[in-house]
Amino acid sequence: MFRNWITLTGAVIMLASLFAFLLLFTIDLFAHFGNPYVGILTFFVAPAFLIFGLALAIGGALWERRAIRRAGSAAPPLEIDLSHPRDRRILAYFAGGAALFLLFTAMGSYHTYHFTESTTFCGQACHQVMKPEMVTYQQGPHARVSCTACHIGPGATWFVRSKLSGTYQVYATLQKKYPRPIPTPIKNLRPAQETCEQCHWPKKFVGNLDRTFTYYLSDESNTVHTIRMLMKVGGADPTHGPVGGIHWHMNVGNRVEYYATDATRQKIPWVRLIDPQGVVREYRSPGFTNEIRKADIRVMDCMDCHNRPAHVFETPSDAVNLAMSLGSIDPTLPSIKANAVHALVQPYETETEGLQQIATILNGRYPDGTKDPRVAKAIAAVQQIYRDNFFPEMKADWRAYPDNISHKNWLGCLRCHDGKHVTADGKEMIKANDCNACHIILAQGSGDDLTKLDIHGQEFKHPGDELSPGDICHDCHTGE
Ligand code: HEC
Ligand code: HEC
Ligand code: HEC
Ligand code: HEC
Ligand code: HEC
Ligand code: HEC
Repeated sequence: MFRNWITLTGAVIMLASLFAFLLLFTIDLFAHFGNPYVGILTFFVAPAFLIFGLALAIGGALWERRAIRRAGSAAPPLEIDLSHPRDRRILAYFAGGAALFLLFTAMGSYHTYHFTESTTFCGQACHQVMKPEMVTYQQGPHARVSCTACHIGPGATWFVRSKLSGTYQVYATLQKKYPRPIPTPIKNLRPAQETCEQCHWPKKFVGNLDRTFTYYLSDESNTVHTIRMLMKVGGADPTHGPVGGIHWHMNVGNRVEYYATDATRQKIPWVRLIDPQGVVREYRSPGFTNEIRKADIRVMDCMDCHNRPAHVFETPSDAVNLAMSLGSIDPTLPSIKANAVHALVQPYETETEGLQQIATILNGRYPDGTKDPRVAKAIAAVQQIYRDNFFPEMKADWRAYPDNISHKNWLGCLRCHDGKHVTADGKEMIKANDCNACHIILAQGSGDDLTKLDIHGQEFKHPGDELSPGDICHDCHTGE
């Protein structure tokens, strides 16, 4: 039955793919870098050929058996006689071969499992689609945390769910049927309790954090302005520190629920707070009287503030500020802040076009640039900012991905703390213009101003025009 061309072809394919698998596996084992293509060949393509060869071999045998039956003769009976040395030998070969095959299969599936969970596979196999997330991830504080620690987490149910949705995603990638940019927030992302809180202990008392922000204005002299703030992060667990501050929201005792009217969760007209004693307070925006369906309510967790812990698409203004403060863009170059931001925000179709146009625009703004080494250096730095934060092929940049941790370039905290959300009996939430509620300004300005710290908090001096109470930063500041 096994002596036919189909079965023999199957056997040859099986042997060849087994050999290929072992070779690739050895390469993968000794390589010091993760290569998604070697992985795909080893763990998907080689096993697929192995299974194909096996199917061919069995199919050939069945075909042959039918042909023998058709010819009228009975299929040769299967006789095993262990007293024959030949039968004993064949049985030993068969048992040995089967054991080896099972061992390789087990080893192979174990490694296939690990491979599909690896950052190499998630971030690089579909390189164009995942490039924005992969590149920004590599620049973030979680660059050493695997994609799956946040996107899948532990346990079998989420493993199966992720493999099912992953299969569709592979199909969508091959068919080029994916949305650009990939929409955020991710629907049905696993709650933070089961991902972030596997590493971050929510009871931790963080206390005050000292943060310094350095800005350059868009005037000719790129005036520098620094703000040093104490962020009142605090904590939410009464056994580890006083309960209060920004981390008060965390789910340890309080439960904050909200309802958003848009898919990106930027418009929040309804908030409900359930405190540890079970007292319920409901806040509404003026004019919002709708009934809220239970299914539309979201419980606030880490990701409602830290929604970009791994993939930070920096705003052009922030990115240029950083490069200038580090000296990779020289702040003595006239109007470089304004020019660099201008070059970055133009609409480009591809990365190559963007990089070329940035050079063209900046060279145009500094006609004597060839004699000035500061210009070439600035162009290189702006191009690097573009590579790290702008992905025109996927239409992904800061415009597509709001960051909710602050309130300057997006509404962020002010989605709720805008001073307009009130309870039925008139109780207000922390107001936007209570500037000392969440942080205090220790020092601001430039030069000597920064040595005069005020522990009670200074009044905010706006580097632009005078602000009136109730002004929302995001109405003017958009990151450009
Ligand atoms: C520290 C946790 C963490 C890690 C590690 C992480 N992500 Fe994310 N990722 C997030 C969060 C949080 C979001 C935004 C979720 C939301 O708002 O719904 C997100 C969003 C995304 C999105 C949707 C588009 C977007 O930018 O919002 C993609 C795609 C993505 N991640 C892919 C990856 C890949 C690929 C890796 C590994 C290279 C990875 N992530 C690593 C936490 C993480
Ligand atoms: C596998 C463990 C792990 C997981 C899961 C994880 N983190 Fe982290 N996270 C870390 C480590 C480690 C650091 C510290 C990095 C450092 O300081 O070098 C960190 C740092 C942070 C920081 C401080 C960032 C900074 O700029 O210093 C924040 C905020 C944070 N994580 C939020 C989150 C959120 C939100 C999630 C869930 C989406 C999450 N983390 C999931 C391990 C993890
Ligand atoms: C989904 C709505 C929502 C968002 C978004 C939100 N908060 Fe709150 N926050 C609340 C509610 C509700 C309270 C309780 C009522 C109050 O004290 O104003 C609260 C209370 C606070 C408190 C007082 C805690 C205490 O000591 O009693 C601080 C500080 C605070 N928030 C800071 C922030 C910061 C900073 C952000 C953005 C990073 C933010 N909040 C985002 C809903 C929200
Ligand atoms: C109300 C918004 C909000 C929520 C909810 C929230 N955080 Fe934060 N968290 C902040 C802010 C604001 C800071 C200060 C960040 C800064 O200034 O860079 C911070 C700081 C941190 C830091 C850095 C602490 C350090 O020592 O550097 C970590 C880690 C962190 N948060 C983790 C978490 C985790 C885990 C959760 C969920 C259990 C969470 N946060 C929930 C707003 C929030
Ligand atoms: C609900 C809490 C809250 C209130 C009220 C609040 N802030 Fe903030 N502010 C924050 C948080 C959170 C950040 C982000 C810190 C970070 O990025 O790490 C921030 C950041 C800032 C920054 C630095 C912005 C940046 O990203 O470059 C400035 C400046 C600032 N706030 C000024 C003010 C002023 C002025 C007021 C009053 C009109 C005010 N804040 C009211 C929570 C608040
Ligand atoms: C009416 C419009 C308007 C509002 C509202 C506004 N700003 Fe500004 N802001 C400006 C302008 C214009 C500049 C000067 C920009 C420049 O020269 O690059 C500026 C500059 C700044 C700068 C320094 C440079 C930069 O671009 O980052 C900071 C920091 C800043 N504003 C913070 C805030 C904060 C915080 C709020 C909310 C409390 C706020 N602004 C509200 C218009 C506004």
